[in-house]
Amino acid sequence: MLIENFYENVDVLHVNMMPRRNYYIPFESAEAALGSKRRSESARFVDLNGQWGFLYYSSILDVLDKSLEALVNAQTESISVPSTWQHSGYDQANYTNVRYAIPFDPPFVPNDNPVGLYTRSFSVEESELEFDFHLNFEGVDSAFYVWVNGQWLGYSQVSHSISEFDVTPYLQVGNNQLAVLVLKWSDGTYFEDQDKLRTSGIFRDVYLLKRPREHLVHYLVQQELSDDFSTARLDLDFLVMDPDLVVSAYQLYGPDGQLLQEGESWQEVTIEQVHLWTAETPELYTLIFQVGQEWFRERIGFRHFEFIDNVFHLNGRPIKLYGVNQHDSRPRTGATVSVAEQIEDLRLMKEHHINAIRTAHYPKSPEFYELCDQYGFYVMSEADVEEHGVVELYGRGWNANYNQLADDPRYIEVIKDRVAASIIPNQNFTSIFMWSMGNESGFGITFEEALKYAYELDPSRPRHYEAFHYADPDRVNDTTYLSCYSRMYPSVEETEELYLKQPEKPFVLCEYAHAMGNGPGDLRAYHELMERYPTFMGGFVWEWCDHAIVLGTDEHGHDYFGYGGDEGSRFHDGNFCVDGLVSPDRVPHRGLKEFQAIHRPIVLKAVDTEKACITLQNQLFFASTDSRFRATLQHQENGVIVEEYKFTVPAIPAKGEAVLEVPFVFHPDVLTHLNLHVEWAEEQLLIQAGTAVSSEQYLVYDQPLILPESENVSLGQSWLVEDYADRLQISNGENQWTFDKRTGGFSSWLVNGQSALETPMEWTVWRAPTDNDRNVKPAWQDVGFYQPTTKFYSCEWEIVGEDLVLETHLGLVPIYREKILDIKARWTLTSAGRISLTADLTRNQLHPFLPRIGLQLGLKKELDRVEYLGNGPWEAYQDKHEASYFGRFAARVVDLYEHHIRPQESGSHRGTHELIVHGQAGQGICIQSQAGFSFNASYYSLETLTEVSHDHELTEADHLVLLLDVEQAGIGSNSCGPALSTDYHLLDETYRLELTMHLL
Ligand code: GAL
Ligand code: MG
Repeated sequence: MLIENFYENVDVLHVNMMPRRNYYIPFESAEAALGSKRRSESARFVDLNGQWGFLYYSSILDVLDKSLEALVNAQTESISVPSTWQHSGYDQANYTNVRYAIPFDPPFVPNDNPVGLYTRSFSVEESELEFDFHLNFEGVDSAFYVWVNGQWLGYSQVSHSISEFDVTPYLQVGNNQLAVLVLKWSDGTYFEDQDKLRTSGIFRDVYLLKRPREHLVHYLVQQELSDDFSTARLDLDFLVMDPDLVVSAYQLYGPDGQLLQEGESWQEVTIEQVHLWTAETPELYTLIFQVGQEWFRERIGFRHFEFIDNVFHLNGRPIKLYGVNQHDSRPRTGATVSVAEQIEDLRLMKEHHINAIRTAHYPKSPEFYELCDQYGFYVMSEADVEEHGVVELYGRGWNANYNQLADDPRYIEVIKDRVAASIIPNQNFTSIFMWSMGNESGFGITFEEALKYAYELDPSRPRHYEAFHYADPDRVNDTTYLSCYSRMYPSVEETEELYLKQPEKPFVLCEYAHAMGNGPGDLRAYHELMERYPTFMGGFVWEWCDHAIVLGTDEHGHDYFGYGGDEGSRFHDGNFCVDGLVSPDRVPHRGLKEFQAIHRPIVLKAVDTEKACITLQNQLFFASTDSRFRATLQHQENGVIVEEYKFTVPAIPAKGEAVLEVPFVFHPDVLTHLNLHVEWAEEQLLIQAGTAVSSEQYLVYDQPLILPESENVSLGQSWLVEDYADRLQISNGENQWTFDKRTGGFSSWLVNGQSALETPMEWTVWRAPTDNDRNVKPAWQDVGFYQPTTKFYSCEWEIVGEDLVLETHLGLVPIYREKILDIKARWTLTSAGRISLTADLTRNQLHPFLPRIGLQLGLKKELDRVEYLGNGPWEAYQDKHEASYFGRFAARVVDLYEHHIRPQESGSHRGTHELIVHGQAGQGICIQSQAGFSFNASYYSLETLTEVSHDHELTEADHLVLLLDVEQAGIGSNSCGPALSTDYHLLDETYRLELTMHLL
């Protein structure tokens, strides 16, 4: 046999693997330790990334009887390392969420277990033989066997973990051959059921470290701050080190690069007036020290996380986590992410005021934590554990299944090993504030042991485990080592009732605001709760990025994407992986703009119109605004900006306020807003000067909006009305209308010979379901909201003054179901060619809430831009409008609809009072309403958006589709979160739509 079967044996997790140690890269000199930007600059680091020989078999059974030599000889292909083989042209990346991707038969895995044989050579010179060579794998999915020069070296598993092997005894001068056999499935698969594309291979870096024979193995950085946080004590704890060794030199540098202290033998160091580390002020000291022939470097942030009376504190101040869950995921490389890509994500996070990351649901590579230390993020680092698939087992039902692995003592060592793999290497990182035991695995003995073990490994940090929530109430459950309570996706009400009113432990939302498709809505309600309750630590939005499969590239060179099912697998979970705040290629979704708006660092708190003063508040927890922000304040009357004032935000201490005079004269009788736009004045870590920080609006005087008046001359011609069975044919001089009794709206409207409508107006209650509508969609369909028929009951007309008035009565009635909406619409036509509408819409009270209530128009495609007086520039729904504000905006029609990988409703602007849809020559239509309306404009029909499953398959209609709604239902986050709050349902008995339309 080529290998011994360890991969179906939970008692053998690693063979010949070196004991775990803290992560570091040894350097050859003080200069290298201090000056190297990348670890590859160390002379002791041998990079093994790059092209490796590769051989793929779809089943392990095809290789077991062969010799390693025969397999190596059969190799003809090559693969880039790191990568996943599914992203390199082999096998398929299969997407499942909860379900296991293999039969549930632990510890066994399918016969047809795909394998990849990786080979590469590296050379060793005679002079190098004085060193030990330690081979490091930072991530291999899911289990692997290693050979050096044909001799078997060892075995390891736990995909997101570092495995280190001592290859020294097997080396020869000259060429050395490494071979790695990677298995797609192993017993580890049962503990790695994370919701992601299931991929395989050597997906993180591989390297050798050259170590002197005698060396330091494992050490901890110890820090302690004085009670007033002014002084730090720094010490090193050498846990494993050759007994003959000592520290022979050290240097400590301050955050500004100044040498603070140096010496020969190490002793505890005291730093007075220490610069504290926070996410807002990520100040790092640099310690380098020599042990034997090696130099080590630690970048240290002095900080102290603690719970005081269940309130989460950093450096003595209460703080909140405004976080996201982040997977490693890139569309073309999957789980393989480069440092540059990690920095790109962190930059986007900083720009959008995210201060915390949960490494869902496995540890990151060490370089990621270094970046978080450097750029300032609070990290909840999670072990590579998820057993979610047990809930899908047949028969016993969700919860009864949940704890079966978690409470099985056979798996205690498995879970402890994974916790060790997450804690031991990463313990010296500043940014990690809490260890998480894993995700969605139920509760029982294995997690009680894991929590205790995590405490023993690192008593300095608290511990998190959400699935304690699923603990069997009939069992005595030990929560001694559980530092906080945690939940995912409870409603605001539930969160408050269960965890905040009488807090037993601190509370965190490890997942909330499921950002799938158009969403998340209702972010503010959670935020307000976080602010209200001190013991609420904050939360982590699910999730940072959409995961997707690249299906092709369009003519502009942009990738287009698919999801589960597109890879051709039998069991998949569709587009549930497309649930991020940014697209797979990192375009921020509008949901991220919502987050950004809520967590803006500067808030316009108050306006004193008498004194012409504004009060600004600094929302940061630690940092002064210094001179980092500049702002533009706009004085807006009736939606029109009348004056502007630019200033540098004064230095405001954290959580402090500043009052500022503004050179504006206010008019109390006019609808008045102040718009505050803030941007970064200076370059920051990761952020360019000029980058937007926030836009917000303050309502100063709430007066009725005065709409611009447009000319409405009477042409004084006489009205001609021909009443046919199916239509009314109306004319007044040059102007003509056809009222279509079938659709209950106008089918043609000609002003001065110009035609305005391409399709008949239609009443509708449908919106293309968003991902967050997925649970209510069956009811909506069932009751008949999609494509109901229109029933015409009556139409009476009369001439009132100079106008013609139609009183129409119709109903929206689905086949085999009762009426949805009763519509009494009064249309007033003027001789100048205008149409005014007042519609009273009565909803069937037995029905679920409506998606929307409105009128649909088909306009000429040449009308390709809009100008509107309403909420913009981003979309605005009842519960998703934080980033938008009231004013006058212009946009291209193509930019209004936000493209989601699975098409759905998007881009509505509620609170619109005037909308002009026009072409380049200025021709178009103007719609006004004192009462206000919501509009969507795009080139996609409701049917197309409803039925097409991928964005790149959307086809444009031959007209512009304009929807004018009284209102739309809110957005929420019910794709995984709680049901949409009833505050945002459309459940009233009657609604009224009031509009005036004229042609330009
Ligand atoms: C949670 C889970 C995440 C993800 C999310 C749905 O239950 O922890 O991993 O599956 O739901 O997108
Ligand atoms: Mg899961």
